[in-house]
Amino acid sequence: MTREGFAKAGRVLASLLLAGLVGGAADEAAPFDTEHWRKVFARPDHMPTPADNPATPEKIVLGAKLFEETRLSGSGDMACSTCHQADLSFSDGVDRHIGHDGQPLGRRTPPLWNLAWGLSFFWDGRASSLETQAMAPIENEREMAGNLQTALRELGADPQMHQAFAAAFPDDPAVKQDNLAKALAAFQRTLISPETRFDRWVKGDDKALEPDEMAGFALFVGKASCVACHQGWRFTDEAFHDIGLPSEDRGRGPILGLKAADHAFKTPSLRERVWSAPYMHDGSLTTFEDVVDHYAKRIVQRPTLSADLPQRIELSTTERAQLVAFLNTLSSDDPPRPASLPPRTMSWGTNAEAVATSTVSQKDRRFSPGAVILKVGEALRILNDDTRVHNVRLDGPGKSFNSDAQNPGDTVAIGFDQPGHYDVICGIHPEMRLSVDVAPVP
Ligand code: HEC
Ligand code: HEC
Repeated sequence: MTREGFAKAGRVLASLLLAGLVGGAADEAAPFDTEHWRKVFARPDHMPTPADNPATPEKIVLGAKLFEETRLSGSGDMACSTCHQADLSFSDGVDRHIGHDGQPLGRRTPPLWNLAWGLSFFWDGRASSLETQAMAPIENEREMAGNLQTALRELGADPQMHQAFAAAFPDDPAVKQDNLAKALAAFQRTLISPETRFDRWVKGDDKALEPDEMAGFALFVGKASCVACHQGWRFTDEAFHDIGLPSEDRGRGPILGLKAADHAFKTPSLRERVWSAPYMHDGSLTTFEDVVDHYAKRIVQRPTLSADLPQRIELSTTERAQLVAFLNTLSSDDPPRPASLPPRTMSWGTNAEAVATSTVSQKDRRFSPGAVILKVGEALRILNDDTRVHNVRLDGPGKSFNSDAQNPGDTVAIGFDQPGHYDVICGIHPEMRLSVDVAPVP
């Protein structure tokens, strides 16, 4: 991941932490605590936007236009919206889209809701921002098979497009790659899933959910342990897990160069999923019933299985139906239309209080403390006192570090011989962030 990627994702994360939106959900089995869960699943009141790509109405309008733009594809007949269709939760209703060469693509088209809060993109998290993500499908031979330079020339020659770019980027009106990426990203950040019946319950309406749906929610956060990974109002921890699907796809593993992350995929949001069947990275499960059956009994045993996945869940037929009933409450009754939230620019590092210590814990997938100050020459020791495998990574300035698989009980040490600011993350759980300031020797 690039340093820019770290910083960007970090800014978003800081705001999530500020808003209390991540973490704190996967507590041990406790009696159902209504107020606690209402807090854990509360929706935010703003949409995060990065400082270097503020959301303006003109940019969002341009992004929406580009999302439908077939001139971005090699054959001139495919747009982003060909695969990401509004009425299908910005997915396409098939297990795998047929690519340019007539063969199915490697993975299912994911829905695009709530990506403004995303920390990494694609099923395997290989893109670090929506801005960098957008260029991939355009030039992908099997997807849009476009040529960016040709497409930009063609768009630039269209007076209406020219005008739309000028309105969106008044300081730098060129029809160029950077602006194209920014506009597409700004538009996609506005795809915020609307409130559903579940949100009415979260806001205090006890009658918003039927008794079997409530029972399903209690299972979701209780015995079935779904909340270990599907947490917060978007129902994702943004982390990578192997949930034991039979697919041969190695997912996150090759991206990190880490066998321990093989078969791990990004936890998908569960919002508006009624509209985006079939499910999973390979589209292999057709219904919510199939999904619940998978968790209850079909899990493939592999050394890479997520530590957050319950070994065995006993669910009766009634309980499975209740879980499915609950999943349905996270979707709209009619094809959903994006909700609107005011944008707020993210800033990174303002809230983390730095501690002068050289030892950091990783319990409950959190670096603690989250910000440290070291002296030049001092080594940072990061202890895995968690139940999960981690992958400590640092990228720049002028330094990189990769712990490979850091098993529970392992400690890694990173030496710093240059002053500066460094961001440390876990490659498997990118929501884990540690900010390191190395002070010069006086
Ligand atoms: C041919 C079908 C197709 C087209 C056209 C297409 N996509 Fe996708 N999109 C996919 C597939 C398949 C994936 C998942 C690929 C993966 O994870 O390896 C994906 C993933 C994504 C993601 C990541 C979502 C997430 O949850 O991480 C975003 C964002 C996205 N596409 C936006 C776009 C944009 C913007 C365009 C137009 C420039 C576009 N897509 C064009 C099929 C398509
Ligand atoms: C260990 C983390 C973890 C746990 C626990 C977990 N999930 Fe998932 N869930 C995931 C991941 C990761 C995926 C995507 C897997 C893939 O495609 O390979 C997923 C996919 C899904 C999907 C499909 C979403 C889509 O758009 O494709 C649904 C629905 C779902 N989970 C519901 C549940 C329910 C219900 C439970 C509890 C019985 C549960 N999950 C427990 C991590 C988890």
